[in-house]
Amino acid sequence: MTNTTTQDLFSEISFGSLRLPNKLVMAPLTRLRADERGVPTDIMVEHYAQRASLGLIVTEGTWPTIEGRTWIGQPGIEAEEHVAGWRRVSDAVHAAGGRIFMQIMHGGRISHELLTGTGRIVAPSALAAPDPIRTPEGKADAPVPHALQVEEITEVIAGFVKAAQNAIDAGMDGVQIHGANGYLLHQFTSPASNVRTDGYGGSPENRARLSIEVARAVSEAIGGERTSIRLSPQHNIQGALETDDSDALATYEALASGLAPLSLAFVDVLSADPAGELVQSARRLAQAPLVVNTGFSEQTTRTQASELLKSGAADAVAVGRAAIANPDLVHRWSQDLEENTADPATFYTGDHVGYTDYPSLADLN
Ligand SMILES: Cc1cc2nc3c(=O)[nH]c(=O)nc-3n(C[C@H](O)[C@H](O)[C@H](O)COP(=O)(O)O)c2cc1C
Repeated sequence: MTNTTTQDLFSEISFGSLRLPNKLVMAPLTRLRADERGVPTDIMVEHYAQRASLGLIVTEGTWPTIEGRTWIGQPGIEAEEHVAGWRRVSDAVHAAGGRIFMQIMHGGRISHELLTGTGRIVAPSALAAPDPIRTPEGKADAPVPHALQVEEITEVIAGFVKAAQNAIDAGMDGVQIHGANGYLLHQFTSPASNVRTDGYGGSPENRARLSIEVARAVSEAIGGERTSIRLSPQHNIQGALETDDSDALATYEALASGLAPLSLAFVDVLSADPAGELVQSARRLAQAPLVVNTGFSEQTTRTQASELLKSGAADAVAVGRAAIANPDLVHRWSQDLEENTADPATFYTGDHVGYTDYPSLADLN
């Protein structure tokens, strides 16, 4: 099927100096296939290389420092062994013709001492997350976090910067700062998880401050054209609630305004209402290409992705579960062909099943 919509989705776009052959971005997808030290494994090399035909791959959330780790099996980018492991992934993706950014994720209070090994977990305020945490010893109540002191916030920013430099050393084309989904930066943005009374809490501008400072510091270190950020305004997840519409609008407008001078490669927004005022206002203010994803409740489809572009609501679309199940998603969607279905039972199981064994159409024929 050939129409303008299809042509739009499958035409080129530039993010910074990187030219993408199509506007389908592989969404960041945690799959817990790293080893217990967070080093990427052989199946991760294979998995990402299989998906190199997507316009851009964004890796799973990767911890910058051990205190930012959220799960066993999650990869890190802190130590030399992580850099060496990720180098194998980026080399394989590039050899297959692809492009790859690393998502850097500090989990903040969505963690446990058994995961960080530092004797504490950290957050903007000493407020526990609402849901249990998966630890190596089973599910545990979310601990009350240590509220970061201002000088410790400086260390968190430095951790993101070092991780971004490590990602570039590992051959990544850029990084995505995880500012979404209830993890550390989002915990600062949300008034439900941030009750600080200093310069990082209170007003919308103060709650937006850390995300901006991290984005600025990372941009200064590796270049704005190699830096992106993921946001999820009013996603209301993991206790990072943003239920007041006018406060959320003011917060994300402040955040987006702070991003504008950085000339970011792109901003990735997860929102059930991507065409709405909040997302589009942030888009105008941030002055960067906009990638959207409509979130978990309904899986992104080819039709939805095409319509998002056709309507002008987005410059590109991030695709999660369809990219898990279809290594050759671009081929299938561009030719309007049948698709494999993702199996949620194998999202986090740790081996190759449901990870590297989804067939491409070429394997079947
Ligand atoms: C298994 C799984 C793991 C995910 N891991 C991450 C992650 O590490 N970082 C992130 O920002 N979003 C993560 N997400 C959210 C996805 O990036 C995406 O927003 C979500 O799957 C909705 O898009 P879809 O309908 O195309 O699947 C994850 C989603 C799934 C299903």
